[in-house]
Amino acid sequence: MKVLVTGGAGFVGSHTVVELVAAGHEVQVVENFCNSERWIVERIERITGKALALDEVDIRDRAALLGSLQRFQPDAVIHFAALKSVSESAERPADYYDVNVAGTATLLDVMDQVGCHRIVFSSSATVYGQPDACPVAETAPVGPGNPYGRTKLIGEWLIRDCVAAPGAALHAAILRYFNPVGAHPSGLIGELPRGVPNNLAPYITQTAAGQRDYIRVFGNDYATPDGTGVRDYIHVVDLAKAHVAALGALGGRRERDLTLNLGTGRGYSVLELIETFATVVGKPIPYQLQGRRAGDIGECWADPSLANEVLGWRAEESLQDICTDAWRWQMNVAGQAG
Ligand code: UD1
Repeated sequence: MKVLVTGGAGFVGSHTVVELVAAGHEVQVVENFCNSERWIVERIERITGKALALDEVDIRDRAALLGSLQRFQPDAVIHFAALKSVSESAERPADYYDVNVAGTATLLDVMDQVGCHRIVFSSSATVYGQPDACPVAETAPVGPGNPYGRTKLIGEWLIRDCVAAPGAALHAAILRYFNPVGAHPSGLIGELPRGVPNNLAPYITQTAAGQRDYIRVFGNDYATPDGTGVRDYIHVVDLAKAHVAALGALGGRRERDLTLNLGTGRGYSVLELIETFATVVGKPIPYQLQGRRAGDIGECWADPSLANEVLGWRAEESLQDICTDAWRWQMNVAGQAG
């Protein structure tokens, strides 16, 4: 299949491009490098052993995006390009709506213009906000607690409305990621946070590497086994493979839109993640217990059974694999690049 990938140099995007090429798809990346690095493209090429077609285009630039789709004539689009920081989204909400919502609307319009009727959309478990119960199924109520999450939910609504429009031929897979972590086992690509990481896993690896003094553990009074927050950490390569499976499922079903949780179905606490990293690194990693972070929830993990059933996919990598691969990446690249 000819697959156009927006945001193909980003964290989940780059790993998905690798899996797409490995599965024999022809890939065209559309990327503006606003939160990714050009050298990631060369790293992808090293892993796959193939040249990667790249258009340096901002998805809000309708003419340029149309040109890219007209030239490539994709059978499907996987749409990752987005802004993704919760804290930044509260400071610059208009930018988040512009890129994540208006950018998605432009993409859908341009896809329609060139007759491309398949989209896989990168959404987030953030759309659930504070879940009433865990595990969280796709039928759980939505109610994101921050602008970033709202832009993802609006992106979902937009896509479902395009699927439902009279005469529309669009098929969509909306994938709600839980907590993507880990890195490619080659150590060549992984997560590249700019500045001080907001997310736990890169903060742990940077602390283990001596770039940060200690991890601040946000809250130990949650109603969880050890009092610290519990999340569903999923290896980015498992996530990437789910995108390839979703492409295969699109078009072969009666329902034209699919909404699927991508998680492992298991939660781990902050302290469990720190301990597992410490085992992999071979030394204790310093941390301090602190008060809760504003906007955080106690626990969130997925019911991934629908994705298991519909895609024939399940997450395979263990927490140990996640930590091993993330640490290899930190050692190889992230240190120098940051
Ligand atoms: C966050 C975002 C979510 C986004 C996801 C991407 C918020 C409120 N949510 O989820 O929208 O999709 O990242 O991966 O920001 N923690 C610490 N110390 C740290 C950092 C985190 O103790 O320095 C704790 C948090 O309280 C939480 C867990 O670690 O219990 C995971 O945090 P994080 O990696 O930021 O992910 P989420 O908050 O689940």
